[in-house]
Amino acid sequence: MRALSELMDDGVLLCQGMRRPLHANSAARALVPDADEPLQALVDLIPAQARLVARQTGSWNGDLAFDDGRILQVRVYLHQNPAGGYCLVLFHDVSEAHARQQELQRRHAQLRQTLVRLAGTQEQLLQSEKMASIGQLAAGVAHEINNPIGYVHSNLGSLQEYLHSLFSLIEMYERALRAPDPKALLPEIDDMRARYDIDFISGDLPQLMAESREGIERVTQIVRNLKDFSYSGREDSWKSTDLHAGLDSTINIIWNELKYKVTLEKRYGKLPLVQCLPSELNQVFMNILLNAGHAIKERGKITLTTGAAADEVWLEIEDTGGGIPEDIQQRIFDPFFTTKPVGSGTGLGLSISYGIVKKHNGRIEVRSTPGEGSCFRITLPIRQPGRSDI
Ligand SMILES: Nc1ncnc2c1ncn2[C@@H]1O[C@H](COP(=O)(O)OP(=O)(O)O)[C@@H](O)[C@H]1O
Ligand SMILES: [Mg+2]
Repeated sequence: MRALSELMDDGVLLCQGMRRPLHANSAARALVPDADEPLQALVDLIPAQARLVARQTGSWNGDLAFDDGRILQVRVYLHQNPAGGYCLVLFHDVSEAHARQQELQRRHAQLRQTLVRLAGTQEQLLQSEKMASIGQLAAGVAHEINNPIGYVHSNLGSLQEYLHSLFSLIEMYERALRAPDPKALLPEIDDMRARYDIDFISGDLPQLMAESREGIERVTQIVRNLKDFSYSGREDSWKSTDLHAGLDSTINIIWNELKYKVTLEKRYGKLPLVQCLPSELNQVFMNILLNAGHAIKERGKITLTTGAAADEVWLEIEDTGGGIPEDIQQRIFDPFFTTKPVGSGTGLGLSISYGIVKKHNGRIEVRSTPGEGSCFRITLPIRQPGRSDI
């Protein structure tokens, strides 16, 4: 037994009863190097609680921490007989394992913290990409609204003049009516009509009104589109949606970005209502359409084709822009991948779009021939599996 215990890395202590040490191997003695009576010192290491438990259950198992940072796992086995029995104590140094575990725990906590921070950053990035698109949008919308507002404003100026002339004329008539001889004033009235160009006014007025009404309607239309685009509820919820309407309102919103260089062709097929988060899909359409616009340098064409097959619908947005070199086609959906100059591209549009389409259990694919153009194809299931709330 002695010889065998010497072969062990763990400390071994054998006692008669629980108090009288009989033997300790070198590994055990090494645990109490400074003790005058190492065997007794080892016995004293066993906590009172351990003795109690071992007497009741036959064994005890626990960790002992030393002031110098060492940690020992101690196992006590008690064989009891009427003479008191024998007790075997094993000391296993777990300092290293313990330190490793603590290090792991520390790193785990660190990682978790980083993850939380990353999630926050991602949220911020999504927000800033949204803001960037909204900034682009706002410029377009301001331009679109400015134009009709401009001519409604100038029309109101003309109207004011016309009203002044008309009221002056009415006053004149009134004066004539009250005069003893109204007819005598006719030349003066004729003169006034000529001066104020009343014939022109009566021709111009309806036109002015029609034009102004059209301007106001245009603004109303833009506002309605904006509302459709953002699904003003904001609270994004799954809805059965007409995707053509989403595409159309998105195009209206960004038309200002495209109209000078793009001809648009719609080849809409027949689409059923699709279960989706409409404002998120609109963001996808906007990202892809804006990219298509960016890819077209001088003049080009964007073709929108849609269709349904079995339980899916698909939409293709095809442009005749510069195309995507083959070696970067794999990377365009990566976050932050952009070929645009600093400040004009975030590189997030497609990666966000990819995430949104994936959330819809759909796919987004690209095919492109450099120099000829690109085509983005979005495929979406008509019904969302496992959703009964739509
Ligand atoms: N229709 C397209 N034609 C050519 N290149 C495109 C097109 N769409 C996307 N790309 C390429 O993919 C990159 C990533 O697009 P995106 O994620 O929207 O970021 P960003 O538009 O900010 O660069 C673009 O920089 C561009 O190189
Ligand atoms: Mg983009």
